[in-house]
Amino acid sequence: MKTRSLGPFTVSCIGAGCMSLSHGYGPPPAPADAARVLNRALDLGYTLIDTAALYGFGANETLVGEAIGHRRGEYVLASKGGIFKNDAGVREIDGRPETLRRSIDASLQRLRTDVIDLYYLHRWDKKVPIEDSMGALADAVSAGKVRTLGLSEVSAGTLRRAHAVHPITAVQSEYSLWTRNPEIEILAACRELGVGFVAFSPLARQYLTGRLTDVTRLAEGDLRRAMPRFTETNYAGNLGLLPAYEALAERVGVTPAQLALAWVLAKGEDIVPIPGTTRIEHLEENAGAAEVELTAEVIAALDDLINEHTVHGPRYNARNQREVDSAEFAHHLLSE
Ligand SMILES: NC(=O)c1ccc[n+]([C@@H]2O[C@H](COP(=O)([O-])OP(=O)(O)OC[C@H]3O[C@@H](n4cnc5c(N)ncnc54)[C@H](OP(=O)(O)O)[C@@H]3O)[C@@H](O)[C@H]2O)c1
Repeated sequence: MKTRSLGPFTVSCIGAGCMSLSHGYGPPPAPADAARVLNRALDLGYTLIDTAALYGFGANETLVGEAIGHRRGEYVLASKGGIFKNDAGVREIDGRPETLRRSIDASLQRLRTDVIDLYYLHRWDKKVPIEDSMGALADAVSAGKVRTLGLSEVSAGTLRRAHAVHPITAVQSEYSLWTRNPEIEILAACRELGVGFVAFSPLARQYLTGRLTDVTRLAEGDLRRAMPRFTETNYAGNLGLLPAYEALAERVGVTPAQLALAWVLAKGEDIVPIPGTTRIEHLEENAGAAEVELTAEVIAALDDLINEHTVHGPRYNARNQREVDSAEFAHHLLSE
């Protein structure tokens, strides 16, 4: 696969998001099937593996360690800390230095490695000064447990404060045709500071593949059930945008999923999308997007078709929105 630079690393221009192999979108695959997906990803040339302590509350890191720990030299390993299961068994943002220190040691064990290449603070814990969380992460770099640091879903202001404590290698935020929030300020801040950008949910959590047509059939506990864009009413509106989108994909000669990834790739050489999948055929299809070059005319047509003004519903509900640190909520209210 073609490669891109991410800080000191050279990675496949499309990375492998591992979340749904353990968590998120309905019942995950059996571990043996998930292990086949991960091994196939490496065989296909995906060299950026993205996991987190949160996914399956450790199960996803364990899976990565067990399935491909023996091939550790073949991939750049990214994980995240700062959201955990608390003593009551509930998901909680916790960026206290002592929690992060413990979490990194646990992640290293689960991942069967002695160093994590890129370690993100999954969310800024607004109860803890970002400088304090970053201090703990910088100590982990000094101790050789982590090579480089990243942040997820932060505002430009928080990125600047964190970057002053320790250089940031990458910001990971949601970015796709239907989630343009990074265009408000964070992409520009990354470029100014020389920080890479990793685009999560680049397929709009399956919407842009055209293969999710009936949201009433999403499994109990599927994260999308709690997302406003996936309510029956909003999703019906969003589905209305797809025929024109699919016609563009056909004109370009690619699948809708490949078009979504090619659009992200076209937005800058400094951007690496990390689609997630539980299926080998989708891994293969998505890898094909690395070869797709879109014309300026197609990019403009896509930009016009699906964007923050045409999409139905905000991306997060109020609870998840409170967890992110950005200008987007105010922006969304302004654009209502
Ligand atoms: N930092 C953060 O806060 C954060 C948040 C969310 C995600 N992430 C990271 O980003 C990664 C990707 O995000 P995501 O999984 O939320 O969303 P995504 O990549 O936009 O979409 C994943 C969904 O698309 C489907 N899919 C993938 N390729 C397909 C194809 N070619 N054709 C049809 N369907 C396809 C998957 O189903 P199948 O399994 O059936 O393929 C799954 O339902 C995650 O794995 C995780 O590593 C980070």
